Amino acid sequence: MPLQGTVKISGAKNAGLPILISSLLSEHPLQVSNIPHLQDVTTALDLLARLGATIELDESMSVKVNAATVSNFCAIYEIVETMRASILVLGPLLSRFGQAKVSMPGGCSIGSRPIDLHIKGLKAMGAEIELIDGYILATSKRLHGAHIFLDTVSVTGTENLMMAATLARGTTVIENAAQEPEVVDLANCLIGMGAQIEGAGTSKIYIEGVDSFHEHSHRIIADRIEAGTYLVAGAVTGGAVRLNGIQPENLVSILNKLNEAGAAINVGKDWVELNMNGSRPKGVDVRTAPFPGFPTDMQAQFLMMNCIASGHGSVNETIFENRFQHVEELRRMGASIRMSGSTALVRGVESLKGACVTATDLRASACLALAGLVAESTTVIEKIHHIDRGYHCIEEKLSQLGANISRIHDHSHRIRAVA
Ligand code: UD1
Repeated sequence: MPLQGTVKISGAKNAGLPILISSLLSEHPLQVSNIPHLQDVTTALDLLARLGATIELDESMSVKVNAATVSNFCAIYEIVETMRASILVLGPLLSRFGQAKVSMPGGCSIGSRPIDLHIKGLKAMGAEIELIDGYILATSKRLHGAHIFLDTVSVTGTENLMMAATLARGTTVIENAAQEPEVVDLANCLIGMGAQIEGAGTSKIYIEGVDSFHEHSHRIIADRIEAGTYLVAGAVTGGAVRLNGIQPENLVSILNKLNEAGAAINVGKDWVELNMNGSRPKGVDVRTAPFPGFPTDMQAQFLMMNCIASGHGSVNETIFENRFQHVEELRRMGASIRMSGSTALVRGVESLKGACVTATDLRASACLALAGLVAESTTVIEKIHHIDRGYHCIEEKLSQLGANISRIHDHSHRIRAVA
């Protein structure tokens, strides 16, 4: 059934996590609003509380974090294992307190995901770092500025080093920095707290260290990946959806591809409308790349769209080496996908068939939910705890658009979708 209607997009998970964690840099409270209701946010707040920060949460999901009381400098394995972004405490703790102990994140379902760039950058700023019993032990006197070149563009790597540099002595330059809107949002929050940062959003960021920060309030940007996912939901069902509360300029690569797929796109200051006029999308070729390129976090959703599109499409993943676990599940629903190295070659079929499928990671689970919306008969998605890490009430928002999708309330972490 074509989805129709309006969705309010939540705050960005990948901006909210570093911004909440940036509170560790300050002796004064940081108030963060537009925080999404997500498992990863709960984990981040739990981590901050374990470090000794005081957290005040109000009903509108505005959070005040006061890190004046931090007295513990260790992010334990149990937390880092459930949320890799926990590594972001390393830079702030080290920079403000001269010590940090953070569990090594280890592998994850989408690849090996090393953190060598975070460690190399902090060492260049004067940190001493050892790996003991699976933990990164970092110590330093006051960090000093450094000229850092990132061999690979890394989002959390850029964020960790940018945060560490804000309290370091002297100037830090980060070259080949990530240009993602979430990096810019973090920089804007830090600047509001009193940091001196220039160039965020370009590949070269300059940070002049300061001695301390002051109290600040920050509203986080909208989640461009959540937004992109609902646009694809509209596209695969031949529907017409409007998203409110977004920054359309952060969605350009996604909107271009949807337009190529046959969607009529209308953009306003803080909204976007997609209309497929009841037609089937056309297959598109997608290649993931750091911002402003096409986001790897939208790859699974576009792969799914290609599965039911007219003609052929391809998805080339260049960021993570193992991000195709959804392919097997989509094949079980009747998709025609051939893998060639890190490229999925897709021949669109008229329709998918409902099946019991398993979510393997956050974005893979979103793509299976989208597949369930168009597949004949019923699709049951197992292990949807992954989806709750990144989408606030996905079944409620899709239902608002007319989808027949519900959570199975028997503690089995399943969602049922019917075309
Ligand atoms: C962030 C996002 C994630 C997104 C990814 C890529 C958050 C919390 N998560 O993850 O949703 O999919 O960016 O846009 O913001 N790399 C190294 N060494 C390092 C760090 C990274 O080689 O020290 C490599 C990675 O293996 C990968 C590439 O750099 O191939 C990009 O990874 P990175 O940008 O660091 O991803 P995350 O920051 O973990």
